[in-house]
Amino acid sequence: LSSPQAEQILSEFGLKKDELKEVMKRMQREMDRGLRLETHEEASVKMLPTYVCSTPEGSEVGDFLALDLGGTNFRVMLVKVGEDEERVWKVETKNQMYSIPEDAMTGTAQMLFDYIAECMSDFLDKHHIKHKKLPLGFTFSFPVRHEDIDKGILLNWTKGFKASGAEGNNIVGLLRDAIKRRGDFEMDVVAMVNDTVATMISCYYEDRSCEVGMIVGTGCNACYMEEMKTVELVEGEEGRMCVNTEWGAFGNNGELEEFRLEYDKVVDETSINPGQQLYEKLISGKYMGELVRLVLIKLVNEDLLFNGEASELLKTRGSFETRYVSQMESDTGDRKQIYNILSSLGVLPSELDCDIVRQVCESVSTRSAHMCGAGLAAVINLMRERRSQEALKITVGIDGSVYKLHPCFRDRFHKIVRDLTPHCEITFIQSEEGSGRGAALISAVACKMATSML
Ligand code: BG6
Ligand code: GLC
Repeated sequence: LSSPQAEQILSEFGLKKDELKEVMKRMQREMDRGLRLETHEEASVKMLPTYVCSTPEGSEVGDFLALDLGGTNFRVMLVKVGEDEERVWKVETKNQMYSIPEDAMTGTAQMLFDYIAECMSDFLDKHHIKHKKLPLGFTFSFPVRHEDIDKGILLNWTKGFKASGAEGNNIVGLLRDAIKRRGDFEMDVVAMVNDTVATMISCYYEDRSCEVGMIVGTGCNACYMEEMKTVELVEGEEGRMCVNTEWGAFGNNGELEEFRLEYDKVVDETSINPGQQLYEKLISGKYMGELVRLVLIKLVNEDLLFNGEASELLKTRGSFETRYVSQMESDTGDRKQIYNILSSLGVLPSELDCDIVRQVCESVSTRSAHMCGAGLAAVINLMRERRSQEALKITVGIDGSVYKLHPCFRDRFHKIVRDLTPHCEITFIQSEEGSGRGAALISAVACKMATSML
């Protein structure tokens, strides 16, 4: 950059390897505290047991319905679970996306779940399967304290959701009540899972070493297979249980204070949930565009960009969408994309302005990849320690719009994770239709367990 002052401002986003190691160490400490009974309550990383266990005893085959709530889109899916001669899972899906109206997200829980039931009803009509009472797997991408695979209370909403009357209540119960209220179809809700868990399971059927699931999308989170004996919140010593880390809340106890910049503080203060999900707010797609916008405004105020003048639109909260970050970093060098986006935001940039804006995007998204990489490295190093293995071979299943759509996020992320995990051999696989397939596969296993217990 030809502006040393701009460079100085952006350098704050750079994280040295030692700093990332420190983040990793603190994350591990919080994970450990989250797993232990006596420290669980105060730990920022909740390490929630999911009741999804290792070594399933086979599963049912047939049609399953899957719901996916909590990412960019709400989806209803029909999934066929079957086996071929080699006993490999064969899965086909039909799916439909529905947008969740703002008032359903932030109104009452009853409004939200009535809307979900309405979408299900519409889907069943379209596919002429309303008469069938199908088993249902529900991917619900929020922190849930499970009592069993089909029962769990919502601890707190995250991302943009805020429907009242849901926190502290059994989410499966709310869904069942809404279906009952409609009365035009029946459904057998057999499992509720986090999106990280659904992602891990969907990849597990392709690669049996897949014992970690991660999302970098609207939110950011990871789950992994933990030794049952260290999951103190659940009785039992044998085998492994999947733990939903809910690492997005890391930092809520002040663990990230020296890494949080003035922009991060504004993003947090103006969010729907101030003081919460502080790690997620440094990383995920819900906040990335806004972070970039705040840095641009800072540069304008310092007279380092756009001749010291921002448009009204650029001054408006939320106007810089996260997909612009991906689009700007995909620019081939002729600055066309960057120029077009900035003009649509009401500013007429010079070539130097375009280069500075791109640099801002790179700084914010690289910090995101590095912060997130420190989290995954914490999980993987912990797994290696637990298993006392000289070298750990592990596969991570990943989904989410930032990971999938940003042109450089994945490479920067893979590199930093590998740098921070010596003696580990990591394979990353991108999940396709992860939540639908994963929820259906878990439901199929849950159905089998239920019938074999009869
Ligand atoms: C989707 C999964 O592909 O990715 C969802 O089906 C998940 O379950 C989502 O929540 C996360 O990404 P985003 O970008 O939609 O938040
Ligand atoms: C948020 C949610 C978490 C989810 C993640 C990714 O962090 O709290 O449950 O897995 O977003 O969607």
